[in-house]
Amino acid sequence: MIYLKKIIAYCGGDGVGPEVVEEGLKVLKVISEYTDFEFDFKEAPAGGNVYKKSGKSLPNQSFETIKNSDALLFGAVGLPDLPPGVGEVAVLQIRQKLDLYVNLRPIKLYDSLRDRCPLKDEFIGKGIDIAFVRENTEGLYANKGAVLTDETAENSMVYTRKGCERIINYAFELAKSLNHSKVTSVDKANVLNPSRLWRKIFHEIGEKYPEINKEDIYIDAFCQWLIRKPDSFQTVVTGNMFGDIISDEGAFLIGSLGMASSGNIHPGKVSMYEPIHGSAPDIAGKGIANPIGAILSVKLMMQESFHSPNIAKLIENSVEEALIEGRTIDLKNPEIKTRNTREMGDLITEKLKKNLKK
Ligand code: NAD
Ligand code: IPM
Ligand code: MN
Repeated sequence: MIYLKKIIAYCGGDGVGPEVVEEGLKVLKVISEYTDFEFDFKEAPAGGNVYKKSGKSLPNQSFETIKNSDALLFGAVGLPDLPPGVGEVAVLQIRQKLDLYVNLRPIKLYDSLRDRCPLKDEFIGKGIDIAFVRENTEGLYANKGAVLTDETAENSMVYTRKGCERIINYAFELAKSLNHSKVTSVDKANVLNPSRLWRKIFHEIGEKYPEINKEDIYIDAFCQWLIRKPDSFQTVVTGNMFGDIISDEGAFLIGSLGMASSGNIHPGKVSMYEPIHGSAPDIAGKGIANPIGAILSVKLMMQESFHSPNIAKLIENSVEEALIEGRTIDLKNPEIKTRNTREMGDLITEKLKKNLKK
């Protein structure tokens, strides 16, 4: 048998982060038990709790571990008793240092979760299945020229041609591989220069894909279209800040912020997979967080970093099957047994073992 050896760095981070990453690791352990993959796990501590101990949110040694791994499974960072941004900077530094310019955030409403979608059937229409592609290294997040005094505060939004081209190219290629007939670009070109450049490049690149329809929507209107007609979107490409916001909106449409996964990707290089939610201080330590965003992030890792679409699909199938029998409290349904984080992870791994054996 040929073993596919991979080093997986992992970082729980703060709040519910370690609770959900634990369940993601369980899934990876099942994969190494039941398939030709062999995973070696290495912890890379980061975030607010690490800052409190060491004065650094991303210690050098943790970054070395990450850099030398094949992929990183990340939880969430940020603590309410630290100033905003102190723990969080760890995730931004990883994205910048590894040049993870793609933030892929799929939003899919499972049939088994239609009862938790806040929209009426009339608005759900044919269903919700959107690939959000968020630019992940430029814009306001690059923090160029940042100023903060008591009198003035400034962050500048810089977009480069190179930065726009690579993410928009990625989005069109993704749309092609998913057989999508349309790519939607979300911007604010009626106000912002970076959006004007972005829009120009979107159409330049779009010309190479005559079979794919191109659509521009302003961010404000998009926020209502996403609720009003979510089934009209397939691949959606947007900048860093807008992508952050609309992906949380999308996550609640599929049932809970705890459901949504993400890949921070530089194709062919070490990439980071994390649920899109944060450290959820309101439920941290209770063992009730939904681990599915983290587990579906493992699905994305198998798909994007380890090129195993079949295993990825089996993870997703296992999640869907498990949701019929058990749910965490954020997805409450009186007819379905409520499970805690661990029990939900166990239910999914049981299904996965059966699916991998078939
Ligand atoms: P949040 O995503 O942590 O929580 C928002 C709401 O969603 C809360 O009610 C929370 O309980 C719920 N929620 C989140 N994850 C859940 C899960 N897995 N299961 C069930 N419910 C869940 O957003 P926030 O409260 O604005 O942020 C808390 C902290 O997390 C802040 O410090 C923020 O900066 C940080 N944050 C970090 C990341 C990251 O590490 N990538 C992402 C977002 C927010
Ligand atoms: C996310 C988070 C981060 C972001 C924060 C914690 C820096 O909200 O991953 O969505 O804004 O990108
Ligand atoms: Mn966010």
